[in-house]
Parts: sequence; C-alpha cells; structure tokens
Amino acid sequence: MKTEDVIGLESRYLVDVYFRYPVAVARGEGATLWDVEGREYIDLMGGYGVAVVGHCHPKLVEAVKHQAERLMICHPSLYNEVRAQLLEKLLKAAPKGLEKAYLCSSGAEAVEAAIKMARRYTERSKIVSTMGGFHGKTIGALSVTWNPRYRRPFQPLLLKNVEFVPYGNLERAEKAVDEDTMAFIVEPIQGESGVKLPPDDYLRGLRELCDSKGALLIVDEIQTGLGRTGAMWACQHWNVEPDIMCVAKGLAGGVPMGATLARDEVARSLKRGDHTSTFGGNPVACAAASAVLDIIVEEDLPGRARRLGKVFGEGLERLKQKHRCLREVRGLGLMRAAELRFDVKNILMKSLERGLITLYSGRNILRFLPPLVIRS
Ligand SMILES: Cc1ncc(COP(=O)(O)O)c(C=O)c1O
Repeated sequence: MKTEDVIGLESRYLVDVYFRYPVAVARGEGATLWDVEGREYIDLMGGYGVAVVGHCHPKLVEAVKHQAERLMICHPSLYNEVRAQLLEKLLKAAPKGLEKAYLCSSGAEAVEAAIKMARRYTERSKIVSTMGGFHGKTIGALSVTWNPRYRRPFQPLLLKNVEFVPYGNLERAEKAVDEDTMAFIVEPIQGESGVKLPPDDYLRGLRELCDSKGALLIVDEIQTGLGRTGAMWACQHWNVEPDIMCVAKGLAGGVPMGATLARDEVARSLKRGDHTSTFGGNPVACAAASAVLDIIVEEDLPGRARRLGKVFGEGLERLKQKHRCLREVRGLGLMRAAELRFDVKNILMKSLERGLITLYSGRNILRFLPPLVIRS
C-alpha cells in the first residue's frame, strides 16, 4: 500500500483521538523504522517509550514465536510455567520489598490496580497526586492524572477524593497528606509533562511523609522504568523503595503488558475477585517480558542508557548554548527533553522529512525516548 492509502483507510475507520504523523510504518529493527515506501527513519519516539530493547530484537522475536507455537491463551485461573518464571524474574529485578505482582495489559490498568490495592490496604478514602502528573486515561487513572484538558470532559465520572499538589514541593505534599490519605502517587521523573526532574530530596521526603502518616507511596515507573533513566528503576537513583510500583510500556517489548508490583501485605489486601483481567499474564506477553528482562541484563541497557544519555545530554546542552530558541534541556539517561520558546509542530514535521521521528510534550517541548539499543 502507499502512504496515502494507509492514512486514508485509518482516518476513515479509527476513532480520531491521536495527534498523528503522516508516516505509515512497515518495519523496524533496533532504533530504525522503515515506512511502506522504504523510507528510513531514526526512531527517537520509541513507540512512546515502549521500544526499550529496540524493534524486533532477535531474542524477543524468537521468544514470541516459540510461545505462539505452543500456547497463546491461558487465563490466570489456570497456572502456566512461562508466567511463573516471568513473575519470579520480574520480582527479583524489582526494588527491595516488592514481592507480588498483578499482571495486566497496559499502564492505565496497572494504575487502576494500584489504586484498588491502596484502598483495600488502608481503607482510607483520599489520594494525593501531583500537578503535571500523568498516570493514564481510564477513569480511575484519569482521576489521578493532572492535565485538565484530559479531565474536564469526564469530570462528573472521576474519583472525588483526589488532591493535586505541585510536583517537587515537599511542603505542599506535607499539607495534603493526612490520616485519611491512602496513597501518594508520583512519577519519579514526570514524562508527559516534558521530562521534569524532582529536587534531590523529593522522593525520599515523600517516602518519609507517607511512612509518618500511614499512607502508601505508589511510584509510577511506566515511562521511567526498565533501564530508561540509567538505573533499572528511576526511584533507585534516590534510594527510595515504594510500597506499590506500576510498570508497563517496554515490559513485554511491544506485546501489551502492564504490572502492579507491591509489598506482600499490601498485595494480600486485594481479595479474590476484587480485580481481574482476562488477558492478565497472557503467555505470549509473559514469554516476551521474560526475554526483555534477560536482554536488559545481558546487554546492560541501564548502563548503556547512562553512557549514551550523557552524550545526548551534552549534545543538547551545546545546542542550547548556540541557539537562543532553546529555553532548557533536561533529562536523565535516555529520557530527554528540549524545551523551546515556540510551538514545536513544525520541527516535528521537518524532522520527519530528514528521517527523524521525535516526540513532543505539550506545545513547546521536544521529548526523546529512543530505544536503549540505539547506536551513538
Ligand atoms: C507515567 C505513565 N503512567 C501511565 C501511563 C499510561 O499508560 P498506557 O498508555 O499504557 O495506559 C503512561 C503512558 O504514557 C505514562 O507515561
């Protein structure tokens, strides 16, 4: 098919809820994509941060093929060897204290499970989230997502007891968290808001605050996890151990998968039937995730993200020194952003013409979430 035919068909039939680039992608390898007409692109979008191990990593492809030939359906009401092995691998790779996982198919679903766990465990009724925070768009997850543009049309359906406090501000967090707070939910580095890093004492401060009030700390590592920032989990940069951690995006290398990891006693508070998913722990997704976790370790992708991130960051810094239109550059590992003084839409389109697919955050921020296997 030609690009315009693909665009024509999709535009006719797909619900129009995405900002779209005029590219019809046909194939990918590592950090390279090819469109239906054979044009080549460097992928700095990485499927919105999904392509941690790159496109079609041979080990991942092999694991998916192998599993697809054996078993593709296994509801969690039946046991499965591949799922059992993945669970063990995932929890061994998790921050200390997280001992159980709920498996699902997306980031938003992982957040939904986290909210239910926090409610069940504490039996309290309030959640505190951050301004600029993004946790997904299902009704529960949307309730703790900040952007009023996403929230406003659905306001009457959202959870009522959610308070938003400025990201990075411990004093305001202290005022909001009280004896009725079930949890504080936070991204270690805000992604959708344009790669915003917190002050160094922030996550530790939140940990202490939650401990002192008996609230749970939910860390959303959906965008920052799996080596992206130069550590396996971004919260490890600040030596913080969450009570609940949400993971998704690159977990199964592109096969849809999310996970909510929790401390044993927190996870146990969810009772049979409280929260389930037909696709949770699907064998193909589990086989893929198992391969992804192996690849991350074998190829030391967190280390690679650290090294390449430094080069990337220095390059962006040099550009900033040269061009006044760059207001700020920031990031950690291979999670980077460049904030401009104007709308970046033209830059996104011009980059496409030069074979570069880049992401944006809001109107004036370019965001870079390349595969961690990208070559320098
Ligand atoms: C930090 C964070 N949480 C949650 C989500 C929602 O994930 P999903 O789109 O898989 O529902 C995202 C997606 O971008 C995210 O970046």
